[in-house]
Amino acid sequence: MPYSGKLISFEGVDGCGKSTQMALAAARLRQSGYNVVSTLEPGGTKVGQAIRELVLHSGAAELSPLAELALMFAARAQHISEIILPALNSGYVILCDRFTDSTFAYQGYGRGISLKVIADLENTLSQGLRPDLTLVLDIPPALAAKRTVDRNRSTEECPTRFEIEGLEFFSRVREGYLKISRREPQRISVIDGQGSIEEVHNRINQCIDAFLENQRPRTSNAI
Ligand code: TMP
Repeated sequence: MPYSGKLISFEGVDGCGKSTQMALAAARLRQSGYNVVSTLEPGGTKVGQAIRELVLHSGAAELSPLAELALMFAARAQHISEIILPALNSGYVILCDRFTDSTFAYQGYGRGISLKVIADLENTLSQGLRPDLTLVLDIPPALAAKRTVDRNRSTEECPTRFEIEGLEFFSRVREGYLKISRREPQRISVIDGQGSIEEVHNRINQCIDAFLENQRPRTSNAI
């Protein structure tokens, strides 16, 4: 059954600036009169928050790549049934800080898990649900890493299990995003994430506006 809502995900390597950009996009859409839900993965539910803590901050625990993959999908399955499907059915525009494109990029291209395994899990555990639009904020991994280090220093936060990965890992993740965007150019837009916050915000606005404009029912000019 078609949903009346839309799911838009924000993606990119750690440090790409997507969370700030998503907050700005949400505020702007609300101002324009859209009913917006802002959420994130992993972490959009209570269960998801517990999983987020485990996969991001259990620094000493040895989590295998497959266990990590399973946890990402467990968080997503809960998120879909608790938050995303009800909001889609109620006509909301859902802005989601990461979704399954992260899993393809990080666990697939980053960790080296078979993309077929991930696609099979997506079909069953995500009920085949994909974002209607994915925005990949693309910045060179070295710049992203520098931003992450600077941010953690100013907030005095410890790096996550992913942030401690080196440039090679993040280069594979970035290439992964570019590859999946080439396979699905209609659904995935790569946005230059370099420049001022306002410049990137304007690029994102253009993309979202074009997408939402396309979703509007066409009205006939005939009287
Ligand atoms: P973030 O909320 O700051 O973007 O951090 C979430 C981290 O989790 C980030 O390093 C990417 C990672 N992640 C995956 O590896 N796979 C996934 O499916 C998701 C949703 C996130």
